[in-house]
Amino acid sequence: MQKKFDLNKEYEPAEDTFFIAKHIENEKGFSALDIGSGSGYLTKLLSQNFSFVLGTDINFQVLQNQTYKTENLICCSASDAIKFEFDLIVCNLPYLATDEILDIATDGGKEGFEIPKKIFDSVYKKIRPAGKFIFITSSLSNYQKLIDYSFQLGLRSQVIAKKKLFFEELILIEARKL
Ligand SMILES: C[S@@+](CC[C@H](N)C(=O)[O-])C[C@H]1O[C@@H](n2cnc3c(N)ncnc32)[C@H](O)[C@@H]1O
Repeated sequence: MQKKFDLNKEYEPAEDTFFIAKHIENEKGFSALDIGSGSGYLTKLLSQNFSFVLGTDINFQVLQNQTYKTENLICCSASDAIKFEFDLIVCNLPYLATDEILDIATDGGKEGFEIPKKIFDSVYKKIRPAGKFIFITSSLSNYQKLIDYSFQLGLRSQVIAKKKLFFEELILIEARKL
């Protein structure tokens, strides 16, 4: 029988959360956006160094009961409901390569590209000219396809860090406007 995804269950901070956190904890600026806020861990971290911080998540139940409470939360896909340009956008993407989307917290669809592409399509106009978008993916996903796609949207993406885990490598990517 197919396992049912529990919408009430937030994604607890994990290796990928801490990996991205380590690389953004010293970032500073006026505005920051955390896409896929989940527990709120990264959104709260951003609140330490940015004056205006927004978190979004597609899962309303999760936003209502966040473990790490933050002030400005919007329930929408990626940044679709927002008309603003940010200094920094971060996202711990649902990046796993999966045939179907059974768990919205982790499943990225075919090649781990389908959901990240949606997020890119939404985000690329919300980055300030000198701003950046930092996101995480995996060696098990076709992240080169995502890097190439970002170029079509007018972004230059490069790998800024890697972390080896038992069965995969976490890949941190920074995208900037060309
Ligand atoms: C891997 S979890 C990351 C949670 C948290 N940011 C962290 O790093 O621990 C991904 C989160 O993205 C949310 N999500 C999935 N697809 C989304 C979309 N299209 N737009 C916004 N949030 C989405 C999920 O509900 C989930 O909370």
